[in-house]
Amino acid sequence: MSNVKFLSGENIPLEMHKVRMVQRVNLLPVEDRLQRMEEAGFNTFLLKNRDVFMDMLTDSGVNAMSQNQYAAMMQADDSYAGSETFYKLEDVLKDMFGMKYFLPAHQGRACENIISQILVKPKPGSAAIMNYHFTTTKAHITLNGGVVEEIVGDEGLKISSKVPFKGDIDIDKLNALIKRLGKEKISFVRIEAGTNLIGGQPVSMKNMKEVSAICRKEGIPLVYDASLLGDNLYFIKQKEDGYLNADLRDITREIASLMDIVYFSARKLGSARGGGILVSDDSLFLTMRELVPLYEGFLTYGGMSVREMEALAVGLQETLDFDVISQTPIIVEALCNELIKKDIPVVTPPGGLGCHVDAKQFCSHIKQDMYPAGALASAIFISSGVRVMERGTLSEQRNEDGSNRFAEMELARIAVPRRVFTLSQVKYTADRINWLYENRRLIGGLTFVEEPRVLRFFFGRLEPIGDWPTVLAKKFREDFGDSL
Ligand SMILES: Cc1ncc(COP(=O)(O)O)c(C=O)c1O
Repeated sequence: MSNVKFLSGENIPLEMHKVRMVQRVNLLPVEDRLQRMEEAGFNTFLLKNRDVFMDMLTDSGVNAMSQNQYAAMMQADDSYAGSETFYKLEDVLKDMFGMKYFLPAHQGRACENIISQILVKPKPGSAAIMNYHFTTTKAHITLNGGVVEEIVGDEGLKISSKVPFKGDIDIDKLNALIKRLGKEKISFVRIEAGTNLIGGQPVSMKNMKEVSAICRKEGIPLVYDASLLGDNLYFIKQKEDGYLNADLRDITREIASLMDIVYFSARKLGSARGGGILVSDDSLFLTMRELVPLYEGFLTYGGMSVREMEALAVGLQETLDFDVISQTPIIVEALCNELIKKDIPVVTPPGGLGCHVDAKQFCSHIKQDMYPAGALASAIFISSGVRVMERGTLSEQRNEDGSNRFAEMELARIAVPRRVFTLSQVKYTADRINWLYENRRLIGGLTFVEEPRVLRFFFGRLEPIGDWPTVLAKKFREDFGDSL
């Protein structure tokens, strides 16, 4: 956000854009919200959007686009091979990251498929070391016979902290792991910008430089997941010494110069839909290139529509505008602060991406094998019509022996899609979560009735243990009268 001070001294997030196209949303009565949650198997992924008031499930593919992005979509060059649109996008990306080659893909996980096939599959049992896993990243690595080792600093796994870069890799752990495993048993090291599953926490340039130096010395490929680069750039500029006045393009290039492979989901980065891989090494490029037509499409579209590629080319350039990238972190901070005022446990410092409520504390009476974060996500929908996402044990895969792998953090993530919601809507969300916190003892656990083997959180179905959702809805009606 630009430097605008209010006379009152209050720190109010101020939107640096105006809304010129809107979508009607519906807020159903609490009894209907309860019914829809039951029909969705207490899995917020299975709700229909028409029944959702504010869709805060994710920031992925649901960000507001600018008028320049929409305008660009009208000029797309539709062609299977050699589309002019592709070359435009390629130029923007090469300029932004300073890397030699760009391979298009239909979204972030498609890049993870290609990278895992090239770097993990030839080395069965090898370790992919990272600050923290993302669900689809881990699934692709394990599917290709690798294992994931997470070495985010200890502070990164604490709910409340004052450390500004909680996504940093623990350098001692990295050195120890390389020594223990030997570099030939390591497929790659991965740094995830704006570390998603620990609360959208950023990684410092200092840390990236240290990790890169180690990887270069050992000859281990360093992979950068830039999906949440926009948020991470904001935090580097705001919080890291020496970057306050740095140009966002220079910071981006500096990061990329430390990496061997950069990949991204354009559902997040660039506020469009799609993805891609950037690389400078000729042989890596050639081996990865072979997989693009096989899984994605021809090299000049890679599964993306030309209209999305045009929107992405503009959206990426807008990522280098501080007013654009600061919007979400500032709203996230405002939402976190509203909840902190009521002593509601949230991940601090607030990260990018969304406000993360700690379900372990919020629902301390619910055991981890009864999925407290999933239960909290369901309870939030019943109480507010706001759809959030479970990021805890439900989002984990079971261990090989079939036992639950308990997540280190049990979070209900209230994502803040970029430039979508107004401050009054955000305040409404905080209001309903405050009410829920006062009534938290009414929330109970969940149990699976249908459990998919892979990425079970997407379409697994659950049921409540006891009749707590009905009791919760009744209490809402008592407290709010005829209010929606
Ligand atoms: C950090 C990170 N990496 C990768 C992905 C996967 O991207 P996509 O959803 O486009 O497949 C996501 C998606 O949310 C993400 O947050």
